[in-house]
Amino acid sequence: MAIENPFVFGKAAEGTYFTDRKEDAKRLYANLTHGINTILISPRRWGKTSLVKKVISEIDRPDIKPVFIDIFQCKSEYEFYHAFATAVIKQTSSKLDEWVETAKTFLSNISPKFSFGSDPMNDFSMSFEWNPKDDTETDILQLPEKIAQKKNVNLVVCLDEFQQTADFEDSLKFQKKLRSVWQHQQNVTYCMFGSKKHLMENIFNDKSMPFYKFGDMMFLKKIPTEEWVTFICNKFQETGKTISPKQAARICEATENLSSYVQHLAWVVWYKADKTVTDTDVTTAINDLLEQNKVFFQREVEQLSELQLNFLRALANGVTTGFSRKDVVRKYRLESSANVQSVKKALLKKDLIDVDGQEISFNDALFKLWLKTNSHFIL
Ligand SMILES: Nc1ncnc2c1ncn2[C@@H]1O[C@H](COP(=O)(O)OP(=O)(O)OP(=O)(O)O)[C@@H](O)[C@H]1O
Ligand SMILES: [Mg+2]
Repeated sequence: MAIENPFVFGKAAEGTYFTDRKEDAKRLYANLTHGINTILISPRRWGKTSLVKKVISEIDRPDIKPVFIDIFQCKSEYEFYHAFATAVIKQTSSKLDEWVETAKTFLSNISPKFSFGSDPMNDFSMSFEWNPKDDTETDILQLPEKIAQKKNVNLVVCLDEFQQTADFEDSLKFQKKLRSVWQHQQNVTYCMFGSKKHLMENIFNDKSMPFYKFGDMMFLKKIPTEEWVTFICNKFQETGKTISPKQAARICEATENLSSYVQHLAWVVWYKADKTVTDTDVTTAINDLLEQNKVFFQREVEQLSELQLNFLRALANGVTTGFSRKDVVRKYRLESSANVQSVKKALLKKDLIDVDGQEISFNDALFKLWLKTNSHFIL
């Protein structure tokens, strides 16, 4: 029997670990079961993968089949096509001979080789090489549509970490290719999601880009404090411990409701506390979590220029607009307001901040808290 723990982090939240997001789930479900391509965006660790997995697990219809592809590891187009073909073949059938047949029928140019692990039903990899002039990429991109037609079903193809494709060598050409094939498909719905808002927005929200208006754009919001408080209090209660709503709210405050950190901090509080949580338990847990993450934060800081760090310090100390103001520039040693723009760009690129109109926010709540408490500024 699996060990029951009250909180989960570091992997998608499922079942009773999943909370809230009812409206998002409803919208995504409706989209994916009605052929509407969807693009889902949020900063890291807010819950994109969890939401998509939950929604596709709820599609209980024989005529709709989900395919889930994580392209985080794909560093090139070639690896993308490889992952794409393998996932589509593998997840649309549970029969070994069908895999081989599908590959032979629809990917005739590339004669794929299969290799099987100890459990051939779950453990296979496919390898192939192709000659670019055979236009095998198109065949691969057509795979879901061909399979859908053959099986008389609709496929929902989910592409996790799609922002990764922006790093491919000629990403524009690659995106054009995808778009040109996918836009004609009648039986496949795409759900593309990822972090790095600026990259995702560049792919999907820029008029000059191939994927402009490809689908419904959803921006995930944070799970609100009331939802978290109920969730946390219930989880403690179910496991024989008590936490007050006020203490649970402090967990949200310290983590700024960032899903992964909320669950992580709640876990630290949970294992530290006796039957009844004390305020000291919460404080110690926050410090523990900061301590645990210290190495990452230090490494991050090492990779920042002094100006970038100063900018983040200003942000951590509550400045969210008006970075070019004279007093702000002076106080946080930003040197000049001209610098501020390039610093902002660099930090966006590193995915450390988000910009929403005039407002700038710090993506990682704990890093922010750590910077704030370790700031050597005299404020
Ligand atoms: N709806 C939810 N209810 C409860 N916890 C959640 C929920 N969504 C996310 N979490 C928490 O956040 C963590 C990260 O979730 P998830 O991996 O889905 O985020 P993500 O946005 O896909 O992250 P990444 O950008 O790194 O891929 C989960 O392990 C879980 O602790
Ligand atoms: Mg994810």
